[in-house]
Amino acid sequence: MDKNEKYSLLYKQIESLIADENDVVAVMANTAALIHDTFKFWWTGFYRVADGELLLGPFQGPVACMHIGYGKGVCGTAWRERHTVVVPDVEEFPGHIACSSASRSEIVVPVFQNDEIVAVLDIDSRELNTFDNVDAEWLEKIVKLIPDCLPAEKEIHLAAGCFWGAEKYLKLIEGVTFTEVGFANGNTENPTYKEVYTDQTGYAETVHLRYKPSVVSLRFLLEMYFKAIDPTSLNKQGEDEGTRYRTGIYFSNIADRTVIDEVIDAESKKYGLPLQVEVEPLRNFYPADEYHQDYLDKNPNGYCHLPVALFELARNAKMKNSRQ
Ligand code: SME
Repeated sequence: MDKNEKYSLLYKQIESLIADENDVVAVMANTAALIHDTFKFWWTGFYRVADGELLLGPFQGPVACMHIGYGKGVCGTAWRERHTVVVPDVEEFPGHIACSSASRSEIVVPVFQNDEIVAVLDIDSRELNTFDNVDAEWLEKIVKLIPDCLPAEKEIHLAAGCFWGAEKYLKLIEGVTFTEVGFANGNTENPTYKEVYTDQTGYAETVHLRYKPSVVSLRFLLEMYFKAIDPTSLNKQGEDEGTRYRTGIYFSNIADRTVIDEVIDAESKKYGLPLQVEVEPLRNFYPADEYHQDYLDKNPNGYCHLPVALFELARNAKMKNSRQ
């Protein structure tokens, strides 16, 4: 039997074995066992994304390292770069993490759910050059069988000019579960609206969002965000001018960085001009007074720099089911 035939059979076995099973650890455990047993690999297992790192999950083979950082080793690289990494010779891979000196070649396949990486499948072989595109394609297909294990909620902070209109717009998007307006990435403690208004505090008017990644991906949210800003305009959105009205994407989860960069790249190609959207880790955020929260719901005729048509767009925008 050639490799393709073995994988084809293996796929059917996994599919029937895990049918109707929703427990992710049980499915990962038996998936690892079946792959391992079919090919007699050296190490076959999963690392799950948990608290900003990869944490050892169900596996077959010798003891392995339990935590792997973002961008570290082959596993952390596949996570950061968001694609399968094939390593013909582990000694040639800079930063390879040697859990065992017997491992000579390796493949790491990210487990995507709704555009989010929830885990990686890592396989080690005692031989050089074990893995190629055939393995990559089949393993990418196999990991789609893993049941939903997305986090219930994620968060992002978006600065899009005056936060009154920005909050109203962003909270209409399906999958957004919570919004609050406030001030992000400035240089003073507990800034008041009046202080921020002087434009001397370094703060940006910002919307803090929580969302369900099973309903809306970060990519879709950011694409919607770009529809509500002029990303080529520095410190000015509509008639509102000043550093407090700059545009910015502030992430609290480093693993969001690659998606943010991909969206920025795609948007800058549309404009053919350098974009002025700041991308930084979230350094601080202070919610604004209650007066500013849901301002346009409380004051339907209040000032808004966004055109009404945008609210209709947000209300109707539904993410296509784009599970990869
Ligand atoms: N070699 C991996 C570490 C995990 S072990 O292979 C099980 C890496 O470089 O990420």
